[in-house]
Amino acid sequence: MHKDIQQVLLSEEQIRDRIQQLGQELLRDYGDKNPVFVCILKGAVVFYADMIRAFDAHCEMEFIQISSYQGTQSTGNVMIRQDVRKDLQGRHVVILEDILDTGRSLAYVCEHLRSKGVASLKICTLLDKPEGRAPGVTLEADYVGFHIPNAFVVGYGLDYDEYYRNLPYVGILKPEAYA
Ligand code: IMP
Ligand code: MG
Repeated sequence: MHKDIQQVLLSEEQIRDRIQQLGQELLRDYGDKNPVFVCILKGAVVFYADMIRAFDAHCEMEFIQISSYQGTQSTGNVMIRQDVRKDLQGRHVVILEDILDTGRSLAYVCEHLRSKGVASLKICTLLDKPEGRAPGVTLEADYVGFHIPNAFVVGYGLDYDEYYRNLPYVGILKPEAYA
């Protein structure tokens, strides 16, 4: 285990097993729809790479980059840094996200993608912190890997100031690791 990690919350095996299950769920709902899976960069990239390989049918890939976090705090000001390239008019779109916390980022991305005239839009998130939702945000994910407590986690794509994304598990940082 990495020296800055206090506790492994989700092991590689737990994540792998759950992704296989989510892949089956998505296959049942989208197997004949040629969905567009939209990856929210950068945090979702590890989950995305595993998730699309657990979906055994035609699908297309798109990427969108947003920013809102600084350190361990959501700024609430969501910005699109890089938009999707494909025309999403009439397409069945599934957003793949690393974590749903305040819900502000996903609320913003959903509104943005809906305005492109998609046929349907759903959210698949690896992690959900239900206690983190900002006041007034009612958005929920359609597919959730794991519900987790309100702690700051890193690994498997999730960062603290860009570090720890490459840990193969999801863990809780030691307090002394926050510079
Ligand atoms: P939201 O807009 O507050 O729901 O934030 C979602 C985004 O914040 C995620 O895509 C992550 O990049 C980041 N985030 C939220 N919670 C955590 C965490 O515990 N660790 C690392 N990043 C997080
Ligand atoms: Mg982040």
